[in-house]
Amino acid sequence: MIHMVKIQIIFYSMYGHIYSMAEAVADGAKTVEETKISIYQVPELVPQNILEKIGAAKAREAFAHIPFARVEQLPEADAIIFGTPTRFGNMCAQMRNFLDQTGGLWAKGALIGKVGSVFTSTGTQHGGQETTIISFHITLLHHGMIIVGVPYSETRLLNMAEITGGSPYGASTIAGSDGSRWPSENELAIARFQGKHVAEITKKLAG
Ligand SMILES: Cc1cc2nc3c(=O)[nH]c(=O)nc-3n(C[C@H](O)[C@H](O)[C@H](O)COP(=O)(O)O)c2cc1C
Repeated sequence: MIHMVKIQIIFYSMYGHIYSMAEAVADGAKTVEETKISIYQVPELVPQNILEKIGAAKAREAFAHIPFARVEQLPEADAIIFGTPTRFGNMCAQMRNFLDQTGGLWAKGALIGKVGSVFTSTGTQHGGQETTIISFHITLLHHGMIIVGVPYSETRLLNMAEITGGSPYGASTIAGSDGSRWPSENELAIARFQGKHVAEITKKLAG
């Protein structure tokens, strides 16, 4: 019987940049045979009237169809790829809130040996993409997960011809301080690489 490698992509997005990157990560993972890719978002914490005031309510309609992640379903995955916008150089509160509900899984060691990977988005070019991803890794390591990033065999990491996100820690995009910049083709390609790379490594681990 064929063992389908199960990959969950779990993200939070306020204006859609991370959602767009999540779709690219999924597209990359889907190119690997015998994989089942599921995309989820973590629940919102910001009140609806505030979301409306800051122009996020409309943007979030674009991915309202994506189901919400449930903590209990994390152990079903062979790999989990997390996407979060940067908040003050760290993951967003919505993602932290979700992860802070995984204490029971930690107590059971339910995520030990699963692959974990992270991608992000910032407003500004040096606004903390690397700190967000690396500090996210700490939580994954507490869970005993195996961290996978983006190796330099993805040569788009070396692209100096344009402003671009992407690092050995994970894919990333720069939204602009007003959110008007969208993931470039270089950034989306790195995101697709990350999805494919995670899927290939997970498949090898799953034997
Ligand atoms: C409270 C708050 C804190 C933020 N902190 C940072 C930051 O430290 N560095 C940065 O470059 N952008 C920061 N941003 C901008 C977000 O990272 C940006 O809006 C996000 O990456 C866009 O992704 P999304 O459309 O998926 O939400 C912050 C935004 C908010 C609302």
